[in-house]
Amino acid sequence: MNVATAQPRRVENLHTDKGKVPVYATGIVEQPWEGYGADDHATWATLYARQREILPGRACDEFLQAQDAMGMAPDRIPKFADLNEVLHAATGWTLIGVEGLLPELDFFDHLANRRFPVTWWIRRPDQIDYIEEPDLFHDLFGHVPLLMNPAFADYMQAYGQGGVKAHGVGPEALQMLTRLYWYTVEFGLIRQKDGLRIYGSGIVSSKGESIHCLESDAPNRIGFDLERIMRTRYRIDTYQKTYFVIDSFEQLMEATRPDFTPIYARLANEPSFPAGTVRDADRVFHRGTGEGWSNDGDV
Ligand SMILES: [Fe+2]
Repeated sequence: MNVATAQPRRVENLHTDKGKVPVYATGIVEQPWEGYGADDHATWATLYARQREILPGRACDEFLQAQDAMGMAPDRIPKFADLNEVLHAATGWTLIGVEGLLPELDFFDHLANRRFPVTWWIRRPDQIDYIEEPDLFHDLFGHVPLLMNPAFADYMQAYGQGGVKAHGVGPEALQMLTRLYWYTVEFGLIRQKDGLRIYGSGIVSSKGESIHCLESDAPNRIGFDLERIMRTRYRIDTYQKTYFVIDSFEQLMEATRPDFTPIYARLANEPSFPAGTVRDADRVFHRGTGEGWSNDGDV
């Protein structure tokens, strides 16, 4: 099989944290490493070099250190098996290969058991700058390094356990939990001694947003607040209007320690906030100018 041209199997569409996107087969797939073509490795190398050039001073120290410690190859697609040796020894997490986005319950179940699903295929060369769905580069480069961090590793497992529970509570609970994932795991910022830094995977795997989230005046940068985030809609088609800032990964873990069930019940009747809202109660690091925002399209 020529993996470079093989198409993943699309089985259905589902509303997910990436919007309305294809959802693939749910089975675990062996990474077909020998099947990657020169184009695939070149795409990895191009994206890796580009992000590593701009991330020092922008990504948090933990991310960059963990990525180095994992030994991700800069010039070819890493083998999941090699990374697993390091990752499992560090925090007990294991990478598993998948065809793409999973249905929510499958995804949560993997996280709850410290398995992180990584899409086996990488974007085509013409998709270097943007791909709607998560591919290998987003999943591996963006998500995996912080699984080496004990506090973040625990948070991801707690998130999976919370997801399994929320799935049983209902769609509103799931929506609130999805917003938490979006504004932390995908698009989170963290405050370090020398300023704000990136830890969100959706940012570190995007050149444009890595710069925009920290240096543009347009977006809000607001202190982390669990319930506030659970009520905040977000963008799937543009850079975020608001980024939420944590003080530490321990803060994130602590915030998810309580049972969310009563929180879901309490917030169920409260209105949601548009993505660009700033509230009086917010701890504002930067109030966005809103330049370039469109007024509809929050999800
Ligand atoms: Fe992601």
